[in-house]
Amino acid sequence: MNELQFGNDGRLRHLITLDGFDCTRIHALLDRADAMRADSRGGAQSLDLLAGRTLINLFFEPSTRTRTSFDLAAKRLGAQVINFDIARSSTVKGESLLDTIHTLEAMHCDAFVVRHQETGTPELVARHLHSAAAVLNAGDGSHAHPTQGLLDALTIRRHCGDFGALRVVICGDIRHSRVARSDVHALRALGVADLRLCAPANLLPAADSSEFPQCRFFHDFDEAIEGCDVAIMLRLQKERMDLAAIPSEAEYFARYGLSRTRLARAKPGCIVMHPGPINRNVEIADDVADGPQSLILDQVANGVFMRMAVLAELLAP
Ligand code: NCD
Repeated sequence: MNELQFGNDGRLRHLITLDGFDCTRIHALLDRADAMRADSRGGAQSLDLLAGRTLINLFFEPSTRTRTSFDLAAKRLGAQVINFDIARSSTVKGESLLDTIHTLEAMHCDAFVVRHQETGTPELVARHLHSAAAVLNAGDGSHAHPTQGLLDALTIRRHCGDFGALRVVICGDIRHSRVARSDVHALRALGVADLRLCAPANLLPAADSSEFPQCRFFHDFDEAIEGCDVAIMLRLQKERMDLAAIPSEAEYFARYGLSRTRLARAKPGCIVMHPGPINRNVEIADDVADGPQSLILDQVANGVFMRMAVLAELLAP
């Protein structure tokens, strides 16, 4: 994948996965996101770094945060954005994905932001482009969500500083989560030594999986959250699972939900994160989601600056 994502000069060409990103590259992107925040005065002022550039959002799965923040990020850098409306496009007449891409390329565009239910779609698009456009993965199946991994790392760095000393737990539907996979790639590269994954057995990856290197697996959330600095909660992705495989929501919350009592087992001041959308009182209690330790809306805000940074890295002259 590295040969696809990085040019011969080491410059980022596409963003498909964080697998292969080292600590220096990630910190440089996080620094750039902080600079974007400062330069745009927190988003109040537009920049013109990408004036004359065109970005196309191609979302084959629903999205609130990711799509809006790519849209805002590109516009705040002066680019034009087309939010391609799949439901009203020739896709419904049976036009293939690659024919759609080549058609859009013929009108000239500089970047495609692709979300798709199938693992590997953004990579497939990147490998079959006719032009020098960049492809950004906005989530493919259970595989990767690299800008979410970066914005989560940015959120943690802003609040906790040094990664090396952190104990982080990711709890929820790990098996189906592209966010968990990208978070683990980022946090491992940044040096988090104690990285814990917690879920019921059927929502953890298969025991022989090598997808989560050097993580400790837990089935007991009370044990997993003990002494943690960061708790990242994940949604039950019902659209990707056999519904018979999960317990009732009340049972799930009792064992894996983040309540105030359970949060008290973590380190005082432990930060609480969730990529959204949240299922209130299924994976996270209302008073935790809305409480003082929750950074859920900070993640959303950081997402715009993070995507500005990535777009600048890929497209700025
Ligand atoms: C996530 C996604 O779509 O992968 N949401 C997001 O992008 N913020 C997580 C989810 O859908 O549960």
